[in-house]
Amino acid sequence: MDWKNYQKIILPNIPDYHKIDVYEKNGGYEGLRKAMTQEEWDPKAVVNEVKAANIRGRGGAGFNAGLKWSFMPPKQEGLPRYLACNGDESEPGTCKDRRLFEYNPHLFIEGAIIACYAMEMDAAYVYIRGEYIDWIEMLQAAVDEAYAKGYVGDNIMGSGKNIHMHIHRGAGAYICGEETSLMESLEGNRPYPRSKPPFPAQKGLWGYPTTINNVETLSHAALVMRNGASWYSSMGAQTHPGPCIYGISGHVNRPGVYEYPTGMLISDLIYKVAGGIRNGKKLKAVVPGGSSVPILTAEMIEGITMDADSLRTVGTFMGTGGMCVLDEDTDIVNFLLRTSKFYDHESCGQCTPCREGTGWFVKVLEKIARGDGETKDLDLLLDLCDRMEGRTVCALADAAAWPVRNTINRFRGDFEAKIKKATLIATS
Ligand SMILES: Cc1cc2nc3c(=O)[nH]c(=O)nc-3n(C[C@H](O)[C@H](O)[C@H](O)COP(=O)(O)O)c2cc1C
Ligand code: SF4
Repeated sequence: MDWKNYQKIILPNIPDYHKIDVYEKNGGYEGLRKAMTQEEWDPKAVVNEVKAANIRGRGGAGFNAGLKWSFMPPKQEGLPRYLACNGDESEPGTCKDRRLFEYNPHLFIEGAIIACYAMEMDAAYVYIRGEYIDWIEMLQAAVDEAYAKGYVGDNIMGSGKNIHMHIHRGAGAYICGEETSLMESLEGNRPYPRSKPPFPAQKGLWGYPTTINNVETLSHAALVMRNGASWYSSMGAQTHPGPCIYGISGHVNRPGVYEYPTGMLISDLIYKVAGGIRNGKKLKAVVPGGSSVPILTAEMIEGITMDADSLRTVGTFMGTGGMCVLDEDTDIVNFLLRTSKFYDHESCGQCTPCREGTGWFVKVLEKIARGDGETKDLDLLLDLCDRMEGRTVCALADAAAWPVRNTINRFRGDFEAKIKKATLIATS
C-alpha cells in the first residue's frame, strides 16, 4: 500500500479546517446538501449508500453502519426518533474522537445530520466524555456555526426538515460509553446498562426508536455522501475499508494520533509511522485496538494488518484502533494488573460475575505481582474468565476477561517465572 503518499481526509493538513467557512470551501456540507436537496437521495437511498460503503463502526465492534441504520422501524408520524452520537471515548489507549472535535468537527456534525435525515430522526444527542472540557467547547462552537448557517435546526437548507443537535457532558464513567448505559445517563438515570432485547432501534432514548453510533463512524457517513460508496470502499482493506485514525501509545519513539487507511501493517505503524521502539529495545507485545482486545506477542504481528479479517487470524480485534506498544522490559504481570484495576474500578456492579470477577482479577494478580503467587492462581484466573464471558448484561465483563485470558495464554512464561521466583524464595 502506498501509505507514504496518503493525503489525510479526516484530519486534513488544512489550516483552520475547524472553521465552517474553510470547511465549506473544501467541499464541506456538500454531502448534506445532496441528501437534503436532490430528489434521488431520499432517506432510503442514503441508508443504502452508507450500507454499500461498508463503514465498519469505529466505536469498537466494527458493525456495518448502514446495516445498523436499516434496523430502524418505519417512521410513525407524531413519534420522535433519536440519534445518539457516542463521544464518550474512555477505552484506555483511545484518543481519536477528541482529534475529530478539534480538527474537523463539521465533518462529524454533517455526518450526524445526514444520519438523522436517513433515519428520519428529530434530534442528535452527542454524549461526550466529561473530562474533554476544551473539546466540548470546540464542538459547541462548531454546532453554533452550523446552526447559524442553517445546516442544523429548523428547515435545513429549505428542505422543510427540522433536526436539532444537543451536546451532553458525561461525568467520568467508562460504562457510559456502552450504548444502553449512555441512554440511561442521557435520560438522567443511574447508568446501569439495559438488557437487550429490546434493542435501541425498537426502544431507545425515552422509549423511542434510537440508533447509536460512534462520532467517527458518523463522520465517515459524511465522506460517503460527498464522494460515493465506491470511492470509500476502494480505500484500505477490502472488507474493512476507509480511512482510519490510529492512536499509537506506549514504548515508541513518536507516540501520537495518525491517519492512514485501514489495512496498514502493524509493523509499519510501529517502526515507520511511530519511529520504532524507544532506546533501540525489542518489541515484546502489542495491544492493537484499546485495552480490552486480546494482546499479541511480537512474533504474532508478523504480516498482520489493521483490519478485522487479518486481526481475526491471530485471535484479536481492531477495536478502536488505539494501539499500545510494549517493549522487552515490560513487566507483563504488572501491565495486566494495571488493566484489570481499570475494569474493576469501572464495573457498574449490576451483575455478580462482573462485580465480583473484576475484583478477584485484581486480588489474584496483586498476589502474583508481589511475589506470593502459586500455579493454581493462573487456573483460578482462567476459571473466572469462563464464568464472566458472555454471562452479563453488557460487554464490560468480556472486556475485562479477554486481556486476562489472552495475556496468561500468550505470556504464561512471564507469570510462571514470577511464581517460580516466589516459590524459590519461600522454600530457601
Ligand atoms: C463498557 C463499554 C464501553 C464502551 N465505550 C465506548 C465509547 O467510549 N465510545 C464508543 O463509541 N463506543 C463505546 N462502546 C461501544 C458502544 O456500546 C457501541 O457499540 C458503539 O458506540 C456503536 O457505535 P459504532 O457502531 O459506530 O461503532 C463501549 C462498549 C462497552 C461494552
Ligand atoms: S457486565 Fe459489568 S458493567 Fe456491564 S452491566 Fe454487568 S456489572 Fe455492569
